[in-house]
Amino acid sequence: MKVFIKTYGCQMNMRDSEAMAGMLAAKGYEIVEHENKADILLFNTCSVREQAEKKAIGKLGFMSKIKKKRPETIIGVMGCMAQNKKEELLSSVPHLDFVLGTGQLHKLPDVLEDLQKKRQRLSLTEQSEDVLTGMGVHYTDKNTVNPYSAFIAVTRGCNRFCSYCIVPYVRGREISRTIDDVMLEARQLVDSGVKEIMLLGQNVAAFGLNGDTRPPQEGVSPFADLLYEMNEIKGLERIRFTSPYVSYFNNKLIRAMAECHKVCHNVHLPLQSGSDRILKAMNRQYTAESYYEKVLAMREAIPDITFSTDVIVGFPGETEEDFEATRSLFAKVGYTNGFIFKYSPRQGTKAAVMPDQIPQSVKEERNQILLALLEEQTNREISKLSGTVQEVLVEGAARTNKNQLTGRTSTSWVVNFTPQQGTKPGDLVQVRIIRPANVTLVGEEIANA
Ligand code: SAH
Ligand code: SF4
Ligand code: F3S
Repeated sequence: MKVFIKTYGCQMNMRDSEAMAGMLAAKGYEIVEHENKADILLFNTCSVREQAEKKAIGKLGFMSKIKKKRPETIIGVMGCMAQNKKEELLSSVPHLDFVLGTGQLHKLPDVLEDLQKKRQRLSLTEQSEDVLTGMGVHYTDKNTVNPYSAFIAVTRGCNRFCSYCIVPYVRGREISRTIDDVMLEARQLVDSGVKEIMLLGQNVAAFGLNGDTRPPQEGVSPFADLLYEMNEIKGLERIRFTSPYVSYFNNKLIRAMAECHKVCHNVHLPLQSGSDRILKAMNRQYTAESYYEKVLAMREAIPDITFSTDVIVGFPGETEEDFEATRSLFAKVGYTNGFIFKYSPRQGTKAAVMPDQIPQSVKEERNQILLALLEEQTNREISKLSGTVQEVLVEGAARTNKNQLTGRTSTSWVVNFTPQQGTKPGDLVQVRIIRPANVTLVGEEIANA
């Protein structure tokens, strides 16, 4: 049986799809790259904004064609939109066979087996205690773009309930794996050739805090303990993580990042807004000032650190003054990458019923202003790197020039470079930067002395 998996949404969903592929491959299924060749079509969906749901619904509608041509095809929806819409999806998408929620992922092999024996339409969306089952399963095939980099999900779910966000509802309560469990998985990945590990969690720095939403005391950070342990793994070159919540960066965690040389010098630090009034309405438990203090503390400990961020424009009640506060903090931090989202009301969240919803045209305008600012900042920061030497983890052939290889710096810039003879993906090399080309860098590898 051939299975096609289409993934929407964040890295956690990408990771879940990989675990699904791994579980199915172990049962003898073949994972294929094209929907036309598959007997089973799986859609791992996202609900974070209305647009994300629309995309998946549109694609699902299109699948009726495949079902007409090949009625025996099994079509399933999984992930956050499955959890959000539940069995309602079965009535709105007549050619859909099953809906499997985020707490039921591990049941996928059984569900597929049952459906092959006996055709029926089903929806399983209970949140369960088993959300960690199967989390350590990986799948690498020969076509994997970058077999040297892997995700490990260390926490699942979220307890923070930011007032705009659907994630706590669709992903359930926050739960952490144990350090030992994560370390076992990390060692296995490194033994199989992985050089870079990205630790994942909706609230990743809350790892090991048992779902307590109060930021930890000074001196307490199980996430820092994990970084120290991972830093000791022989053969592992780089550690990244996403997404942390700013309040969890206490001195212990910042020190761990500075002391662990494998931890990359780039942090995705969602800001959401630079206005204290809006941050409060969002139920984000920091102020613009305390956010900026953490940025400064990290810069002091790690001078070349770069930051990326998420911002929401047009949150209910956002005035010109609030937006100006966001714009000004955005400029002050000097992000090198960022995602600017137009606020999208999600049913069931507090913000969806707040007064003073902002017109689409205003969201659009504010979005454009921040995007232009980001471009300006990125250009300024990247042009400072000409002439420097950067360490690059090689990922593969450069898309634009097949005589070049491509990879990333620890600070997360993409570098296309002319390699020395014998350099291959997975190598860590020194590259002299010649010039920026748009948002990437161009360089040449320095010969080993
Ligand atoms: N757990 C991550 C965020 C996951 S959602 C964190 O807290 O960092 C990714 C981003 O989507 C959020 O950071 C936020 O900027 C954006 N987002 C979430 N809900 C949204 C909504 N209702 N409308 C617009 N953007 C939203
Ligand atoms: Fe959503 Fe906030 Fe949790 Fe992030 S921390 S997933 S924005 S509720
Ligand atoms: Fe989307 Fe779910 Fe991730 S809502 S952003 S796929 S956790």
